[in-house]
Amino acid sequence: MKNKVKYIVQRAIKPIKGIIIVPGDKSISHRALMFGSLATGLTKITGFLDGYDSLSTLQSFREMGVEIYGPKQNILCISGAGIYGLKNPKKNIYLGNSGTSMRLLTGLLAGQKFDTKLTGDLSLNKRPMNRVAIPLRLMGAKIKTDKYGVPPVKILGNRLTGINYIMPIASAQVKSCLLLAGIYAKGETKIIEPGCTRDHTERMLKSFGYKIKQKENTISLVGGSKLKASKIKIPADISSAAFFLVAASIIPNSDLLLKKVGINPTRIGVINILRKMGADINLLNEKIYCNEPVADINIKYAKLKGIDIPLNQVPLAIDELPILLVAAANAEGITRLRGASELRVKECDRISAMAKGFKTIGVKTSVYEDGIDIFGTKVYKGGCINSYGDHRIAMSFTIAALKATDVIVIDDCTNVSTSFPNFNLLLTTLGINIKEVKY
Ligand code: S3P
Repeated sequence: MKNKVKYIVQRAIKPIKGIIIVPGDKSISHRALMFGSLATGLTKITGFLDGYDSLSTLQSFREMGVEIYGPKQNILCISGAGIYGLKNPKKNIYLGNSGTSMRLLTGLLAGQKFDTKLTGDLSLNKRPMNRVAIPLRLMGAKIKTDKYGVPPVKILGNRLTGINYIMPIASAQVKSCLLLAGIYAKGETKIIEPGCTRDHTERMLKSFGYKIKQKENTISLVGGSKLKASKIKIPADISSAAFFLVAASIIPNSDLLLKKVGINPTRIGVINILRKMGADINLLNEKIYCNEPVADINIKYAKLKGIDIPLNQVPLAIDELPILLVAAANAEGITRLRGASELRVKECDRISAMAKGFKTIGVKTSVYEDGIDIFGTKVYKGGCINSYGDHRIAMSFTIAALKATDVIVIDDCTNVSTSFPNFNLLLTTLGINIKEVKY
């Protein structure tokens, strides 16, 4: 059996100060690999995230015959196969913990001339795939899941036709899956979103020269065009930055500068919510990397207050909600989160995992089907937390530990490397006492 790791984290004894760079954006890394592999010509990617999730996507394209060089110092070069150039992989494609790989690839593979089977780890094998299988079948795709609508996903390559699809849930993975399938479909694929979700696919299609129409909440493209190789510079991941934004906000006298972080408006819920709670955040040096806005983020300690998290910010902060709940635990008053039932079907049930962890360390919560109330407190204790193998739960309680009266031990942290390979190292350089123990 694979070795598991646990984190043993002590309370911070001094402010965190300095300049840091968190790894490249995970969502953009997946998409850069996919479009680079389908493009005609050589694509160079810098700032690629070499976490296990994006490496799963990388490996799957290698298995489909795409020549990919790297990653070396976060640089990748892809000799694109063209949209019809992928080869039949010799075996099932294993995608580890990565839901984004599985959902996006299901769309991309539905219109190929070969069949594929996608599998994942224990967590991924529990995640709902009907949200992509149902609309893909309307396009003519032949997709089989197990009887509960979860992986493995078997895809029998078929001819696709464009559809008009009103998405029942706000999901960038579903939208991106259908756009990728749309490249292979006859005619137009039109998608209507119920709420704004991350638009990296749309921005990157433009970078690769593919025409796409966007009007309010409707996105459409016509199948059959070429993708032209591009140079892609990937910003640092705001989802990884979020752990440090909260750490600096809750440790008195902290002052951090996070360099070159993606501040795409569909991803900055964490900044909007923290500011509403009273955080001291400044965006500096704003620029654009390949259609994606980027900035250095300066964050200083500030007294936070509890808020009702605005419903329209929930999809814009979907991956940052666990760490925002840690900010809430350290704020004055109650923070209410609703409209977040999607958290129940992430790498684990994140509402339940956060509530159980908070109970262990003495933070009061009230749990709802679609959210949670957090009762902010000046003091909470240490304890032993189960992360349920979820990287964002593990990292959230690591940051919570910086204010606990006693040590916090977090079990099952191996998956932190899916999104943030050097997380503890970066904390150590900031003077945090964190130990990683194999068991
Ligand atoms: C992602 C979309 C989000 C997010 C996930 C990455 C993406 O999922 O939670 O970590 O890269 O498209 P949903 O589309 O399910 O909300």
